[in-house]
Amino acid sequence: GDRLRRSTATSWRRSRAGCTRRSSGGASTRAPGSGRRTWVPGIVALQRRFEPRAGDVLLASLPKCGTTWLKALAFATAARGVYPPAAAGGDGRHPLLRLNPHECVPFLEGIYLDEEEAKLDAAPTPRLMSTHASYPNLPASITEDDRCKIIYICRQPKDMAISLWHFMNCSKAKTSSLSDDQWESITMSLSDVWESIREGAYLGGPIWEHILGYWNTSKAKPDKVLFLKYEEVLRDPTKNIEKITEFIGQPFSDAEKEAGIVESIIELCSFEKMKASGANSTGSLHMMANEYPHESFFRKGVIGDWVNHVTPEMADSLDKFLSAKFYGSGFTF
Ligand code: A3P
Repeated sequence: GDRLRRSTATSWRRSRAGCTRRSSGGASTRAPGSGRRTWVPGIVALQRRFEPRAGDVLLASLPKCGTTWLKALAFATAARGVYPPAAAGGDGRHPLLRLNPHECVPFLEGIYLDEEEAKLDAAPTPRLMSTHASYPNLPASITEDDRCKIIYICRQPKDMAISLWHFMNCSKAKTSSLSDDQWESITMSLSDVWESIREGAYLGGPIWEHILGYWNTSKAKPDKVLFLKYEEVLRDPTKNIEKITEFIGQPFSDAEKEAGIVESIIELCSFEKMKASGANSTGSLHMMANEYPHESFFRKGVIGDWVNHVTPEMADSLDKFLSAKFYGSGFTF
């Protein structure tokens, strides 16, 4: 416990035992020299300086719960007037065919940490943005202001943890102890990721508080927070895309539905299509002193992959632990 807490205090991503491999030279084009590790200054700057705009939509999640997919779906639907998908006359040059979804929807903590607020100022209205911050950590300018709506996506924690484990072992981190052109690969043991949930250290905090913060607000203020589940979006994408469009005040017209625009968006954002796209099979995202290969955001995209990695006893024990945390809240996975 102490070991995990110490390692997550400065970086929730790394186990102390990890990050042993080094690669050097030309792995990144990011501005050198930062070596920053924690998201806290980004969240503090966000709390102090975020200026809401009418129509703002914030996509919130814990890492590895379908953020990338939600970004693609929300971007494709909200921007369908400017960038029509194929069924609405799109000509094959949709931004999602050229860019990784994270390049279409800015990540707020990263924007503030990397001092790139000008990107937010320049973004056209209505803005789509994302965060991994918990609801109580959001600025009052978001939670107390009617101009900003929030769409939250959660996922079965067992699959979330397996996804994070794979993801972190694909990433590279820059540390201040290395010279400017050197990168250190991140390694993280499965047991550290798994135990970080119980320890309340996944993303530096308890996941049940993260989920319940948004869940409770979605129940109290359904116009403020739309609460989605990865598994439900996978089982019924049409219903969930329609929920998104209605929530952000851009419902599909009958003509759009007849033209097959919903199916077109589902296809554009499908796991297979996105994974195969050149924009996602090459290149990397450089953010907050880390490098994340685009392809690492598209691994399997299925429900229940945890069975291939942990024992039924480990799964059962985590399920029981979390059921107790959610008891009485009305929330179930
Ligand atoms: P797996 O590692 O289980 O495959 P995030 O975007 O929050 O980082 O979450 C990543 C997870 O979402 C990964 O899960 C990834 O494969 C899955 N994912 C990414 N794009 C998807 C899509 N278009 N449809 C379904 N799942 C997707």
